[in-house]
This record gives sequence, structure tokens and C-alpha cells, in this order.
Amino acid sequence: MSLSAKPVEDLTVEEAAEELTRLAAEIAANDERYHVADAPVISDADYDSLRLRNAAIEARFPDLIRSDSPSLRVGAAPSGAFGQVVHAKPMLSLDNVFSDEDVRDFFTSVRRFLSMSSDEEIVFTAEPKIDGLSMSLRYEDRRLVTAATRGDGATGENVTANIRTIAEIPDRLPADAPDIVEVRGEVYMRRDDFFALQQRMAESGQTFANPRNSAAGSLRQKNPEITRSRPLKFFAYAWGETSEPLGTTQYDVVQRFGEWGFPINDRMERCRTIDEILAHYHQIEEDRAEIAYDIDGVVYKVDRLDLQERLGFRSRSPRWATAHKFPAEKAFTELKEIDIQVGRTGALTPVARLEPVTVGGVVVVNATLHNEDYIKGIGNNGQPIRDGRDIRIGDTVIIQRAGDVIPQILDIVPEKRPRDSVPYEFPNRCPACGSHAVREEGEVVRRCTGGLICPAQAVERLRHFVSRNALDIEGLGEKQIEFFFNADDPALSIKSPPDIFTLRSRQENSLTKLEKIDGFGKVSVGKLYAAIEERRQVEFWRLLHALGIRHVGETNSKRLARSFVSFAALRSVAESAVAPVEKGDDGNSSWQEINAVGGIGRVVAEAVVDFFAEEHNREVLDTLLREVTPLDETPVPVSSSPVAGKTIVFTGALERMSRDEAKAMAERLGAKVAGSVSKKTDLVVAGPGAGSKLKQATGLGIEVIDEDQWFERVKD
Ligand code: IVH
Repeated sequence: MSLSAKPVEDLTVEEAAEELTRLAAEIAANDERYHVADAPVISDADYDSLRLRNAAIEARFPDLIRSDSPSLRVGAAPSGAFGQVVHAKPMLSLDNVFSDEDVRDFFTSVRRFLSMSSDEEIVFTAEPKIDGLSMSLRYEDRRLVTAATRGDGATGENVTANIRTIAEIPDRLPADAPDIVEVRGEVYMRRDDFFALQQRMAESGQTFANPRNSAAGSLRQKNPEITRSRPLKFFAYAWGETSEPLGTTQYDVVQRFGEWGFPINDRMERCRTIDEILAHYHQIEEDRAEIAYDIDGVVYKVDRLDLQERLGFRSRSPRWATAHKFPAEKAFTELKEIDIQVGRTGALTPVARLEPVTVGGVVVVNATLHNEDYIKGIGNNGQPIRDGRDIRIGDTVIIQRAGDVIPQILDIVPEKRPRDSVPYEFPNRCPACGSHAVREEGEVVRRCTGGLICPAQAVERLRHFVSRNALDIEGLGEKQIEFFFNADDPALSIKSPPDIFTLRSRQENSLTKLEKIDGFGKVSVGKLYAAIEERRQVEFWRLLHALGIRHVGETNSKRLARSFVSFAALRSVAESAVAPVEKGDDGNSSWQEINAVGGIGRVVAEAVVDFFAEEHNREVLDTLLREVTPLDETPVPVSSSPVAGKTIVFTGALERMSRDEAKAMAERLGAKVAGSVSKKTDLVVAGPGAGSKLKQATGLGIEVIDEDQWFERVKD
């Protein structure tokens, strides 16, 4: 019997892997014919059975699910099929809150940031959070010129031709609209339209899991005529770049969008108190089933735009808005197995393998188990969770899925526990390299100590090293990294980052030629070398991020780079830093210097210092720095800001803003905010009650101004 005809239950692991490879290729080829060429060559029933077989094998062998699995795609064109658009203003996401209590905290944090007392009124808007995909529509001279998806927030995909087919989106704006305006909102599909489309498409074998995927898939068609045939809709609720202010409140601007012809949500309301907001939330929640489209929560926004501006943004989301999500959906299933994954930083994470079950329209096969305490029934604070019930293989579990969050196991059903089940024993060795896995005091996570020798970490480290927001080496994707890592030939092997840069010279002296190997042609090898060469000089923050230091992601790398300017400077300070050992001890001056970087706290500082203290790391770094030169950061003065590049100290009581706001404002304008006065201080902003810092500043001849003068100076 040929492999493709063998029943799924009889497949061995090797056969299953082979079948998944074949199916991925075959389904992709048919998708391409269907979507791009619009000319399917197999019957819909045959196509369906390919997908079904793929899904059945994946359900039986979840470990084998491929990164290019057809089940992870929804028949959409591959990414890269559209041009890219750099957003004039980033498209951010929203913070989430889940309980009434969290909403109160959000209100308090807004007030605190604005230094407003609880009797001063702050009006919020409250509106449904549409479960679709966000879109930025750019109008120049009142004509629609570009429509872009959110993408990674900074760059999206150009889907203008497809957006033009949506009747609800105006192609032109009336005369009172500014010359430049980016109207932002959500493209979505109504549930009834989605079901009708499902029926229509079922005959052709193409289906989507839910209205959101359906909207996304419909928008990502190469042929706009296909998009035109799909019932897409739009709500306007936000904006990006504008050549002039659109109004003074969130509510009024959205009403204006309505006047310009955009659909706006009729459930948006202005609320004056928390009670009003919560009442509106619970009303929408109650009406959820009657609302014609999927929503997953309610979004609250500070109404006054001047306050929005003062509140500003965190790295990924505005401080002036939050999404109050509806409670997650739940389902029961059986826990088949617990696997341990080793992360890039060596953390051992237990993953539950489940009997596949549908939750909220999505098939769930894996769920996170967080850490070993969680399995034992102990929460992060050391207190019992689930009344202390542990989780065992064979248990019937209750799982929950909320939005895009990884599904979680909430509890078990004690009555259904098999009699012979035993408590799960968490491994104390790394499943990838066999090194000891230790759990530091006060930590919930157990980590592999194998560092650079651990293959799980090494591949992950390499992958991270070359990834988009790190060294960004094109042509070194996941597959290639795996290949080079597993290659035994010394002329091909890449085990750690410096090896990437010696690949070419090793190749020149070798008989095993890369271009002869399956998957690498002459052209692609040439491109790969060029991409590597290009990165011999690299921005400081990218290199720092690429090192994979704990807690040092893109944002913190940029903060450190901006502050230290050169990699060597950061390294030398980090290597001489001594962290405080006991209470009252402040650490040495190098330690304080790292700590003084805006946004860098003790935990991050410790991770940086620990990294440079580790001899293995220093060795690899030295080898790497023979190949790669990190470029000094050119301080980017915020255009014409009078405080750009200056070091500022705020002291005494501030009356017009909170400390946090003052700091955020100064940083936004390109200044560095320090906690203490030194020779390096350029400016001291002193409020009433300023004491020793003010004295020091006067002693050192540093300029001192008060809060009013500060506002005078920074106003545009
Ligand atoms: S406001 C600066 N309002 O939710 C943030 N977003 O989780 C502007 N979304 O990417 C977003 N309904 O795609 C806003 N009424 C609404 C929304 C909404 C859905 C989406 C949007 C955003 C995501 C964030």
C-alpha cells in the first residue's frame, strides 16, 4: 500500500512526518493554483480530503506540526505577496484588562499620571472592540491613496487595491477634511455574512475558521475581484498622521469620520464615571449575541485629546486607552502528555498535549502549563491554586482560550481522574542536553545550565541572533539555521554566532560546496554571503538585542544603546559594575550608571551585568567582535527640541504633572532623566520643597528652573 493511502492510525512517526511534508507541499501548490492563478486542478472533494488527512495526522502527532503547516494558514496568499507600507505613525495595540477591578486600576493610573485628584472629572469613551483586522487608510488631498494592514505596527502590507473594493470605505473625502489624514479602523465580516459565505465556499472546498480569519483571508487575495465578492465591512475609530488637528475630543473626531461617510460604531458612548463605564460594558456583554459581528471586549479611551497627548505611549500601547476583554471561552478535554520545551534562555516550560477540542471556533491541541508549581497546584505567590489540586497525565482538564492568548489549563475534574494516575514529576535535567536544570531561589522557572552547549538554546540563540529585529540576516531562516547547526562538516557547521561570519572563508577552502547542496543554489548562496557581509557593521542596539540577554529585548537594547552610545562603553561599565549585595548598599558607580538609564530597572541591570560576567559569553563575544563591528549610536536629537541630549533632574514637588509624566515628557523630547545631581547634569527642574539636590545644583552652577519655566521651554 502506498504511504499516502495508509490509515492515519497505522502511521509510524517517521511515516507521519513524511506525509505531513508531502501534504504541506501539495496543499500549498493547490492553494497557489486556486488563489493566485485562480485555476484549481483537483476536485474540491479531493482537496478537502488532503486537508482532512493533514489535520488528522497533526492531531495524532502534534509534535510533528510543521511551521509551514496548511492548518496554520487559512488559504491566504503567502506574506510578501503585497508591497510594504511604512506607517507614518506606528499602529499600536491596546493593553488588556479583564476585571472590574482592573478597570478601576486603569482609571487610577490615568489620574495618577496626570496628577489629577479623584474629584476632577475625566470623560472616557467606551465602544465595542471589533474582532477583525486593523487598517490604516491614508487620504491625500481628500483621495484615498494607500490602505495598509497593521503588520508589525511599524510596517504593514499594502492592500489598497483590495480596500477599494469595499463599498463602505469612501474613496474621496469632503472639502472640510484636511489635506493629509490617515483614518484607522477595523475591517470585519458580519456573522451572518460569514455563514452565508461559508456555505457558498464549502462547495469549493475553501473554508475559514471564523469571521475574523475570513475577513483577513478575503483581504489578502491577490485578485481584488475575489475580495470584491466578499462581504467586508469597516468601522472607523482612530487615526494616524493628520496635517491639522481633527478636533478636541475622541468622540467628536469619530463623529466627524461619520460625517465624512465612514461607518462608525453606534455603541460608542461617553462615560463620566467608572460606574457608567462598567454598566455600558456589562450591557454590551449581555447584548453580545445580538450584535451582528464578533466583538471581544470594550475599548475605553480618554476623551480629551490634550489629555491623550499628555498621557502618551508605552512601547507598544497608549496610556490613554485600554481594552476590557470579555471572559474567555472554556472546554473540557483529556490531558494526554506533558512535554517539556527548552526556551532560548534555557527555561524549561511544560506544555500540555491535549485530545484536540474546539474552543471558540478554533481547534486546540496544546496548552501552556506555565511552570512546575502550576502543575503542583501552587500559584506564583506560593499560595494554593485550584484548591491545591495538581494536574496529572490522564486528567480531564478544563481549558480556556482568550483571543490570541495561548490556551491555558484552568482546572481538572477530580471525579474523572483515573485511579492509577500518579503525580507528575518535573525533570531536573534538561531534555535537550542533559545538563542539570536548576531552579534559583525565589524563581518559579527551572533553567538548563547548559548555556551555550545546549542545542535547544544554541539553535534558538542563533535563530534569534539573525532574526528581523536583531542582526536581520536575510537568507538565514529557521530551516537554514537548523541545517547549518546540524551539519557535521566543519566547512558548513554554524554552532554559534561568530561561525556565521567565517562561513564564507571556510567554504573557500573546502570541497563541500554549499551551492551544491539541495535548497541552496548559486544565486541564493551569493545573496546569503552578501547579507552576511552587510552585517559586519551593525547598529549597536541590534547587536545587543541579538545577544539574547534576559530581559534585554528590542526596547531595552535601544534604551541602553542611546544612553551608552558605544558598545565598548556599555561593556566596560557592565564588566566593572558591582550590584548591591545588601539593603542600603547602592552598588558601585558603574552599577548606578546602568540603573540610571531611563526605563532600565534593577532586574534588567542585573541581567546585563550577569551576562558580561559570564566567561563563556565573553569568549564568544570576543570572537564575534573580531568579525562584527557595532556602530556607535548617533544620538538623534528630537528635531529642534531644546532639551534633546540633555540630562535633567526633577526635584521637589511638581504641581502640573506627576513625576512619571515629567520623565516621559523629557524622554520624548530626547532628554535623559537622572535621579541625582552630578557634574553631568545640564538642567534641574525644582518645585517647592526642593532640598539637597537644589543646593548641589546651585553649588555646581547648574541651571535651575521651576515647573512653569519648564513648560514654557518645552512648548512647541
Ligand atoms: S483603538 C492606539 N478601538 O484592537 C490604539 N482598537 O488590541 C488604537 N480594535 O490593533 C486602537 N476595535 O485592531 C481601537 N474600537 C476599537 C477597536 C480596536 C478593535 C483592535 C485594533 C487594535 C487592537 C488592539
